[in-house]
Amino acid sequence: MFQRIKYSFPILVFGIGLWLSFPSCKHEPLFDDIIDPIDTTSNPMDTIPVDSMPVDTFGIPCDPDVIYFEQDVLPILQSNCAFSGCHDVASAQDGVILVDYDYVIQTADVEPFNLNDSEIYEVLVDSDLDDRMPPAPTPAMSQDQINIIAAWILQGGLNLECDPNAGGCDTENISFSDFVKPLLQNQCQGCHSGATPSGGIDLTTHVNIKTYADNGKLIGSIDHQAGFEAMPQGGAKIDDCSIDKIKSWVDAGALDN
Ligand code: HEC
Repeated sequence: MFQRIKYSFPILVFGIGLWLSFPSCKHEPLFDDIIDPIDTTSNPMDTIPVDSMPVDTFGIPCDPDVIYFEQDVLPILQSNCAFSGCHDVASAQDGVILVDYDYVIQTADVEPFNLNDSEIYEVLVDSDLDDRMPPAPTPAMSQDQINIIAAWILQGGLNLECDPNAGGCDTENISFSDFVKPLLQNQCQGCHSGATPSGGIDLTTHVNIKTYADNGKLIGSIDHQAGFEAMPQGGAKIDDCSIDKIKSWVDAGALDN
């Protein structure tokens, strides 16, 4: 009896320690005090594919000062890196796969809060063009895109989520320079720019973008309408609110405003 207590006590202590040391899954502490976990055990909507039903984030407004992986970082990686021949699952150049959060964390050497030790950041700003990503002759990412990835690492490299439609979707007076241009820059220009843009479509200037706004291909492709190629190719569909904003901008004449 004495022996059993003697041995089981350290095991118990070790067990509790192990349990306490497990990282909290799902939500990072940032959200703990602002949302109650939603009980989905008897939710009839459980049959809907997870992707189309962001139960966990529904109603959580996005904080403009926070970088969200899915909304802010992933589209940049998808349009600049995560395609065939480079960093999709099948190609995995240098073992690096940039198609989703888990792969990025496992393969891209993200050191939370530390830019200099984060390979994924280092390669973007490497002055040696042989090592710089995306590799020359593809131009470097824009400074805005590099800043987003840097800010994400400096905020801890987390997979925070929010609901871009929380608080409604304001589609009034959409500006090309404040909204449409940056969105296309992050989500489309990785493929639709340079000497040989995908599909022969360059989406870097207002004049070009207006052409595709006017002929219906811009909305047809991002809204995944029948008869159009779904864009961004290989990536997640743009959120509904952003699509509504772009539609509103197109309906108002696709101005250079
Ligand atoms: C990973 C690369 C990639 C990304 C990112 C991407 N595209 Fe494309 N896009 C392509 C390719 C390749 C084609 C040509 C497809 C074809 O014709 O089979 C294309 C075609 C198109 C077309 C013509 C569609 C049609 O039906 O004629 C439009 C418009 C377009 N893209 C807009 C966009 C927009 C807007 C975005 C960003 C929201 C985007 N693309 C992001 C690769 C990409």
